[in-house]
Amino acid sequence: MPESVTITDNRTGQSIEDPIVEGGVSAAEWAKLLPGIWFYDPGFSATAECESAITYIDGEAGVLEYRGYPIEELAEHSTYLEVAYLLLKGELPNQAQLSSFTSDVTTHTFIHENVKRFLEGFHYDAHPMGMLVSEVAALSTFYPEAKHIDDPAVRMDQILRLIAKMPTLAAATHRFSSGKPFVYPDDTLSFAENFLSMMWKTSEPHFQADPALVRAIDLLFILHADHEQNCSTTTMRVVGSAQADPYSACAAACAALYGPLHGGANEAVLRMLTSIGDISEVPAFVQAVKEGKGRLQGFGHRVYKNYDPRAKIIRKAAYDVFEVVGKNPLLDIALKLEETALADEYFISRRLYPNVDFYSGLIYQAMGFPVEMFTVLFAIPRTAGWMAHWNEMLESKQKIARPRQLYSGSPTRAYVPIEARDAE
Ligand code: SDX
Repeated sequence: MPESVTITDNRTGQSIEDPIVEGGVSAAEWAKLLPGIWFYDPGFSATAECESAITYIDGEAGVLEYRGYPIEELAEHSTYLEVAYLLLKGELPNQAQLSSFTSDVTTHTFIHENVKRFLEGFHYDAHPMGMLVSEVAALSTFYPEAKHIDDPAVRMDQILRLIAKMPTLAAATHRFSSGKPFVYPDDTLSFAENFLSMMWKTSEPHFQADPALVRAIDLLFILHADHEQNCSTTTMRVVGSAQADPYSACAAACAALYGPLHGGANEAVLRMLTSIGDISEVPAFVQAVKEGKGRLQGFGHRVYKNYDPRAKIIRKAAYDVFEVVGKNPLLDIALKLEETALADEYFISRRLYPNVDFYSGLIYQAMGFPVEMFTVLFAIPRTAGWMAHWNEMLESKQKIARPRQLYSGSPTRAYVPIEARDAE
């Protein structure tokens, strides 16, 4: 049987055969046969917006691979910076390449002093994600050369800057919100440890984090680094396709991630667990969800119709963190919620499983991060994925994103002077 589909316009009897290539069929062929007739696919549930070699997900099997490497193996053996290199370059680095990449990132961790003044303009209780989106957008004014997006060397400079500066910007929002002085990057520390230093350092001359917590943060950064065409990465590609500078495109991606249906879910999970309050309240909460009164935050996924492989790894890692900082009392509620939902027909029939956000917040909270910082913790590592997709999109010379619509508005009509319009 040929690997193709045949499309027939029954109005004319005309047909075309469209080959199935790498799991997709070209819409260009459709457009030739049926000009002006569009595929209607709100939310792009069945649309491939691009071709990408970066990340592969099999939602049915619960598989996630970065450049062909299973997430479970990267989680066990790799580091966030090594994964960032892999996502950007397509291959794992050798020792010399990793050392050079690490040093390149390390030299870009500082932010312009004016960015701190910019932060001080925010209200005392500004949400850190609102501040981060603004800080990232502001960076576009400090590096005007970033507009030369057609120059691969210029692109790589901005990619290094964004990967390197996100932890600094993120920690700065927390220090501002908590009324503490900013902590400068410490280039003698690893990526994850430097972030913890900028978050928590007080008067000690040199910050020292518990190695188990450094490992936990680095692991969470690996797990959040990329996830193919999720909402924020699609945003990065769409804004980038207009040839906007990478800081403006990254700010847009951050804004998309802020949404509670996307990266904001980890914060929503903690608020949900806190509002449930006690394990005895779980059945009533689940019943309310089934009656359509709200959603089970941290459950469900557009692609995974199986357990999110990242959630499995995070669930296990939580215990390593709790060994150090003590168990998060909300864990028992989360475990009971999961056990109840996975045995309930409502969730089974809708193929709803825990996703990456269901357990991550429990770790963050146990490590002392304020709930408002959780999505910021997602944005830091996802910057590597956003940058890899942005670079891949530009290298592929993809055209500006400009989808069509099905028009359901008013037919043509003449202007009516205000005097002649209905009184009410
Ligand atoms: C991330 O795309 C990515 O890759 C994202 C991400 C990444 O790494 O970038 O993986 C990160 O964003 C994870 C998802 C985090 N969001 C949440 O946990 C918020 C809660 N989950 C959802 O709202 C929902 O599951 C989505 C948004 C994640 C997916 O929604 P879809 O694919 O649009 O599914 P849907 O809304 O059409 O739901 C299908 C059915 C509906 O029921 P019916 O109308 O058929 O009766 O399932 C129900 C929904 O009501 N449903 C839920 C539910 N999620 C879906 N019911 C209760 N609780 C939920 N969480």
